[in-house]
Amino acid sequence: MSTIITVAQRKGGVGKTTIAVCITAELARRGHGVALIDADPQRSASLWAEPGQLEFPVHEIGLGSDSISVWTRDVLSVQSELLVIDTAPNEREMGASIALANLILIPCTASGLDVEATAATLAIIAAVRARRRLPAKVILVPNRLDVRTLEGRQLVQELQTFGEMVAPAISARSAFVRSFATGQSVASFAPDEPADFEIRALADTVEDVLARP
Ligand SMILES: Nc1ncnc2c1ncn2[C@@H]1O[C@H](COP(=O)(O)OP(=O)(O)O)[C@@H](O)[C@H]1O
Ligand SMILES: [Mg+2]
Repeated sequence: MSTIITVAQRKGGVGKTTIAVCITAELARRGHGVALIDADPQRSASLWAEPGQLEFPVHEIGLGSDSISVWTRDVLSVQSELLVIDTAPNEREMGASIALANLILIPCTASGLDVEATAATLAIIAAVRARRRLPAKVILVPNRLDVRTLEGRQLVQELQTFGEMVAPAISARSAFVRSFATGQSVASFAPDEPADFEIRALADTVEDVLARP
């Protein structure tokens, strides 16, 4: 059975696909068997993979009008030590992806709306957790942060009030935007640059949390 990491957030444009692709690449670089499931009908992760530069397989498995049990069976048929699921921001698709997850990463940027959407995402997780025996772990990921702004500095403090783990922040960096344009992960587009180091720090946190009982 694969260990499943779901990247979810009720709001679009917060960096779900960016974080899903970059964390998958870093986990692959560390020697994990890992595949990315693109469960978003917008297909951003699949488009990212199209130039053939990513170091791991991307499987397009959208929920669409399928039943959740059929979708779940299709996802679980992918043979890999780790599966990372990039999700659409709607409730049905998020619920299905969260129900499978051992670990949920919730990206959040410095806008009041994101903090509200994070509360909504955590409410969906709480509902799923209540129906499950195994608790899913949660990491909030401050993303596209500008520490020069007051909003940027406040975001981390604000996220800490949710009582979940908060990952080291990921800054607003053009390397993330450009790596998508070239179809690469930041690890291969900008190796040993700040964006790469930030993803490595996130991967350290993910590995730590997964190693805990
Ligand atoms: N840390 C970051 N720094 C700069 N741009 C970012 C960062 N994270 C995401 N982006 C950009 O923000 C936009 C939305 O990101 P994306 O990963 O597609 O979000 P989502 O999947 O949540 O809709 C994209 O243009 C992406 O390149
Ligand atoms: Mg996306």
